[in-house]
Order: sequence, then structure tokens, then C-alpha cells
Amino acid sequence: MGFDVTAELQARKGEGPALWDRYLNPQTAKVLRSIGFDRDWQRGEGCYLVDDTQTRYLDFLSGFGVFGVGRSHPTVRRALHTVLDAELADLVQMDTPLLAGLLAEGLVARAPGLERVYFCNSGAEAVEAALKFARRATGRSRVLFCHHAYHGLTAGALSVNGSDDFRRGFGPLLPDTQIPFGDTEALARELAAGDVAALVVEPIQGKGVFVAPGGYLREAAELLHQAGALLVCDEVQTGAGRTGRFFCYEYDGVHPDIVTLSKTLSGGYIPVGATITTDRIFKKVYSSMDEMLVHDSTFGTNAMAMTAGLATLSILDDEQLVANAAQLGAKLLADLRVAARRYELVSDVRGRGLLIGIEFGRPRSWRLRSRWEPLRLARQGLFAQMVVGALFERHRILTQVSGDHLDVVKLLPPLTASATEADLFVQAFCDVMDDVERSSRPLWHFGWGLASRAARRARPS
Ligand SMILES: Cc1ncc(COP(=O)(O)O)c(C=O)c1O
Repeated sequence: MGFDVTAELQARKGEGPALWDRYLNPQTAKVLRSIGFDRDWQRGEGCYLVDDTQTRYLDFLSGFGVFGVGRSHPTVRRALHTVLDAELADLVQMDTPLLAGLLAEGLVARAPGLERVYFCNSGAEAVEAALKFARRATGRSRVLFCHHAYHGLTAGALSVNGSDDFRRGFGPLLPDTQIPFGDTEALARELAAGDVAALVVEPIQGKGVFVAPGGYLREAAELLHQAGALLVCDEVQTGAGRTGRFFCYEYDGVHPDIVTLSKTLSGGYIPVGATITTDRIFKKVYSSMDEMLVHDSTFGTNAMAMTAGLATLSILDDEQLVANAAQLGAKLLADLRVAARRYELVSDVRGRGLLIGIEFGRPRSWRLRSRWEPLRLARQGLFAQMVVGALFERHRILTQVSGDHLDVVKLLPPLTASATEADLFVQAFCDVMDDVERSSRPLWHFGWGLASRAARRARPS
């Protein structure tokens, strides 16, 4: 007797969608059904997922970037089994756990100029800490953020979210100010008021895969520092090697004051977030013994998360995954750019390392425009969803549309991917685009079906 997870999974097999319909977010299963993504996932290994019919899918979504070291990595699994079986005195709270010290040491070693780490449980929490640290350290309250920015969905993080779709109905939020991404003149104008604590910015925006113009972060840092404000780089998605450097800001040779990290650091298993900053900022936040807990999170330094983080850092080094992300990413980007020349509907291919966006735009020819426009009119982003659907259905490749109302397909393969996976993707993408541009009415019918379902979905049920 007692709880047996294997037996439970077996006994209730296939009930996931019904339970979600009944007890969790009621839209989830509905949306998955409508876009044809309703699979019963059974296993994950490396770059691949397997469903209940034993069909393998190439995972270019990586759980929104969580599986940087791939799924079920043996080193992470072994480390987690070991630490679980060690029956450590975890979360005593009145202690200084060694594993947290070791992970902080490992992160600081990879972040020249930064000296201290705060651990928490998610990307949004890492951002929340950054916002509070910036306010306390500067004694100012206004934070600047960028159009299209995504920093999580808790109230503070939502206050620096650049999309009305996420913000609508949740106000009033913090009085922060939105500026165009990459625009240093707009930044300078806001800084002139003298009340800005920080600019929070993703070096590559996850929504839309917009890459900061070269030199933007460096110039921004100079302007911010002259004005007594801080540069916060949100590396929750771009960090831990994803873009071919451990931190994406390294491309700009800049030294941010605060950096956030999460996703890949989890090893794909245990939620973890890290806010990495300077000794000077920490001393302002944790300024006396009375303030030891002034910003804290009960589970922040739990042994499983710290172990997963340490295992992940060692895998990134041992398997040279940061270099792999740089090299394979450059190849994938180049191959896709060559392929894209053949297609009227592809307007841009951009990104860095293994964070790549393929953007679609209005075709020149009347024949394609007459098919594209109805989708565009129904909802921007549906064409990209049609491509994502075809990659999934026909080629067993999982990708995503990079945010609402954006005709951008985003690729986030595990950093362990090889040329085999990159080539598989390029071939599949070309096959889908050949079909879309040359003939296939069935594919466009699928897209138009999405459009009519989107119209129905927009009506509240
Ligand atoms: C740049 C960035 N910041 C913050 C977050 C929020 O992370 P979480 O979903 O773990 O709260 C995300 C999540 O996608 C992100 O991409």
C-alpha cells in the first residue's frame, strides 16, 4: 500500500486532459486540441520526446528553454539520486548550506565584476529580486523596460512586461516606464528626470527573438551609470550558454550591475532562479544583521536545486556546450538564411547561438497574398502557427510561435543538439515551406481552420 507513483500513472493513464479541463487551467487542453498538439507524452531523452505510441519527436522547444543540457541527462539524474539518498539536513534555514555556497562560487566565477548571488525558485522571482535590489541600492523607484519585454508574470515582473496582452486587467502595476528596445536616445531622455533606478533588459528578447543592436548594452550601461542608475540584464532565457557565451551580454563586453538566471540552470529538473550582483548592492540590501531576511525565499537554496545547478555547470564545461551552442547555432542560422532566400514568405532569420527566430512577412505575389491575408486578418501569428503545426504533424518537430501576435517561429533546441538535429530541422522547414509556397491547399486549410477556431476562442465561453 501507500503512494506508488508508477501505479498511479498506470491506473490513470490518459486522464490528463480531462483532469486539466476539470481542475486546472481550462483553456490549456482546449488550445492544445485546437492546434493539434494533444499528445500523451511518455518519455524524454536528450533532444527527443516520445509519446504513448512510441513516436519520437525532435524537441526544439526545450520546455521554453529549461532543457539546455537535454532531457534526462544522466549526470543530473545521478547527482539528484545521490543527494536525495544522502538524507541531507536540507532547508534548516538557520544554517549556511555548502551546496548553495558552491553554486554561488561557480556562478560568480563565470560573471566577472559580480560577487554575490541570491537564490530563488523561478525566473520571475529572480527578476523580482533584481527590481527590489535596484530600488534599494539607488533609493529610487522608477524602472525602465522595453517594448516586447518579457520578464515573468508575477506583479513586479508584470510591471516591466512590454505587452498589453499580459498586463490587461491586472493593474494598477508599478509605475515603470516602457521605452523602445535598442533606443539609447529614449533611454537618455528618461534618465534626465533623475529618478530612474534601473533599466531591465533581455540581451535578446524572448518574445519575437529581437536581438539588441551591437553596442546597445554598452552604451546603455554608460548612460545609466552616468545617471546613477543600474543595468539589469535578464538572462533567464539567454543565460547559461544558450547564445554561445555563458551570458549573452558578454558579446557587448559590458558589465551589468545585476544579472538574472534560471531555466537551463535547473538541469531540466528542479526549479531554480539566481540574481547575481555586486558586493556593493548586497551591502545596501542586506545592510545589517537585522536585515538578514529582508529579501528571502523559503525554498531558495534547497539541496536538490543547488545540486541540479552544480551538475548543470559541470555538464556545460565537460561537454563544451557553450561552444557547441555558438558553432551549431552559427551553422543553423547560416543554413536557414540560405534556405530562406527561396521563400517569399520568410522575411527574416535572426538570433544568436541556439536561440533563433524565423519571421514571416507579407508575400509579394498575388497568389500567396490571397492566402496569407485571411490568416493575417483573423489574427497575426496564425501563419507562424500553421508552420509550427506542420512541423509537428508531418515532421515530428516541436517548436513554438514566439509570442502572441507575432509571425515568428522560435527555435530553442537543447544545447546538446548536433548537426544531425540541425539538418533535420532545416530539411523539415524547407519541406513545409515548399508546400506552403508551391501548392498545398490542405496546409492552408489547416491555417484557415485555425483562424476560424481563433475567432471562436476570442468569444468568452
Ligand atoms: C527573459 C525571461 N525572464 C523571466 C522569465 C520568467 O521565468 P519564469 O517563467 O521561470 O518565472 C522568462 C520566462 O520565459 C524569461 O524568458
